[in-house]
Parts: sequence; structure tokens; C-alpha cells
Amino acid sequence: MARKIAFINYKGGVGKTSLIVNTAASLAKRGLRVLLCDFDTQSNASIWLMRLEKWNKINVNGTGSIYSIFDPGNVRVKDLIIKDVVEGKDGEKLLPGLDLIPTSFNLVDLEGEYKPDPKRPSYAIFQEQLAEVEKDYDVILFDCPPNILRASQNGVYVAQEIYVPSNPDALSLIGFTLLIEKLMRFQQTSASFRTSTMDAAAQVYGIVFNSIKTNVDIEVPKMRMQLRLNQFKTQKRGVAPSAKIFSTQIRDAMVVRRAVTLGLPVILLGQEGGGDDDSVANDYMKLAAEIIDHAPST
Ligand SMILES: Nc1ncnc2c1ncn2[C@@H]1O[C@H](COP(=O)(O)OP(=O)(O)OP(=O)(O)O)[C@@H](O)[C@H]1O
Ligand SMILES: [Mg+2]
Repeated sequence: MARKIAFINYKGGVGKTSLIVNTAASLAKRGLRVLLCDFDTQSNASIWLMRLEKWNKINVNGTGSIYSIFDPGNVRVKDLIIKDVVEGKDGEKLLPGLDLIPTSFNLVDLEGEYKPDPKRPSYAIFQEQLAEVEKDYDVILFDCPPNILRASQNGVYVAQEIYVPSNPDALSLIGFTLLIEKLMRFQQTSASFRTSTMDAAAQVYGIVFNSIKTNVDIEVPKMRMQLRLNQFKTQKRGVAPSAKIFSTQIRDAMVVRRAVTLGLPVILLGQEGGGDDDSVANDYMKLAAEIIDHAPST
């Protein structure tokens, strides 16, 4: 069965999307079959991987966007998957094994306009449909906005694992604390929809520090995060016993910002991405390896 991992923190701008896109690419480069689902209306991951021109086509009328499984509700998750999404200028496949379920701006309507059947919330619809394709993947990743409103609920509901991207600052710690509070509340309200064939509800398995500047000592924020993690573990509040701060941290590097403009994950930027042992591209590859080793059953 595929591992299902949501990347989420209640703090915005910590690097959730950058981390998930580059991690997804690194996992695919290692030969895993990866599906990335974009649950953020901002559509950053979709635009990054599809490039603006192609993404614009789905944004015009929403056809092909994840929202269409809810409204008009006439397509299924399996019809939305863009296989081997990363392409070169001539349409050549640059990273086989990385698939995408894109979103467009219409996903915002899930928060207001969409009137779900109280007996069948949107996340139950998504769960049922994702189950049809799970066997095709080793890892399914969910990029979420900094909240657990309806769009993110889809990812949080089906995920087994939650990773919390963080910056070494107090606001990321607050974001993590708020995340646990909201996660607990959502799991209470969604519990009655879970069936016996489903995995257990998601727990936090990892904190990943991102955008770390050279020569900046992050021991104190790291220690504070570890204390909070331990506290939630003891209280059995949404944190798995094996949860940890990943030893791989992602350095702050200009090329991460540039990669968005180029429409490529950092590991495909060759020389520009660094590519050697001391580069941000290598940080992402190391993180992918650490994620593989940190599977819940091990
Ligand atoms: N390792 C890094 N080095 C340099 N810049 C980075 C790094 N990671 C992310 N960034 C930059 O930080 C900004 C925020 O990143 P990103 O969009 O990934 O955050 P986010 O948490 O997904 O934001 P949101 O909450 O809006 O979804 C972007 O401009 C991105 O390019
Ligand atoms: Mg984002």
C-alpha cells in the first residue's frame, strides 16, 4: 500500500510547497512511484510542475482540477492524474514516476459555495476515489494550505503521516501547536465517517526544518520544537511515538526560488542546482532517503 503523507503547518510561507515538490521529485528520482495532490487553492505546486501555460488551460474553466470531483462531480480522481508531469520544452518527459493531481483557483469554492451532503463530506468522496489508484503508487503526498479547512481536510483525512515543515522561529512553533489543536478537532468530527478498511487517522511523524541560513545556529528553536513534540507524544495528542525532527534540514538557497520560475524541481537544474554533496539538491535527496527510512512500520 502507498504511504500517504500530508505536509502541513498552520504557519504560512514556511516552505511547505517547496519542500513537497522537491521531495516528491527526489523520491521519483530514486525510482519510487509518486503522486502529488495539490490541495492549496493558490495552486503553487500545480503551476510549478505543469508550468503556467499548461496550468492556465485548466484554470480557465476548472476542467481537470481536483474541484471537479466535487462540482460538477462528473469526473473521478483517476481521470485527473497527469502522468509524469515534469516535461521539457519539447514535451519530453524529464522525471518519469512523478504524477500530479492539479488544482486551480476554483478549489476556493469548496470552502463556501459547495454544499456537501451532510452524510458524505467532501473528504469521504476523495478518500473513496483515491482508493481506486493507491495501488499504482509507493508514496502519495498532499500539499495543504496553512489551515485545516475543507480543501486540506481531504489530504489530512486520507493521510497516515503528517510532516510539519518549519522555519527555526517562534511562529513555526506556534503554527505546529495550533495544527495539533485543529487536527484533534477535525479527527473528532470526521471519526464517524472512517470505515474499518481505512488506515488509522493521521499522526505527525516528522518535523522538517527548511530555509536554514549558513552560520545560523538553530539549536535553540530545535530544542523548543523537540520539547513541544515530546509534550504532545506524552499527551498522545496527534503525534506518533516515533515522531522526530528530521536530521536532514534544507538550506536556504536562491536556486529554490528560481526553480519555481523555471518550472522544474531543484534536482533537475543540474549545475545550477548544485548537484554536488554540498548543495540544496543534495539536501532534498538526503531528505527523501530519510523519509524512506522513517516509514511508520519500522
Ligand atoms: N530552502 C529554501 N531556500 C530559499 N527559499 C526558499 C526555500 N524554501 C522555500 N523558499 C521560498 O520561500 C517562499 C515560501 O515558500 P513556499 O511557497 O514553499 O511556502 P508555503 O509554506 O508553501 O507557503 P503557503 O503557506 O503560502 O502555502 C517562496 O518564495 C520560496 O521560494
Ligand atoms: Mg504552499
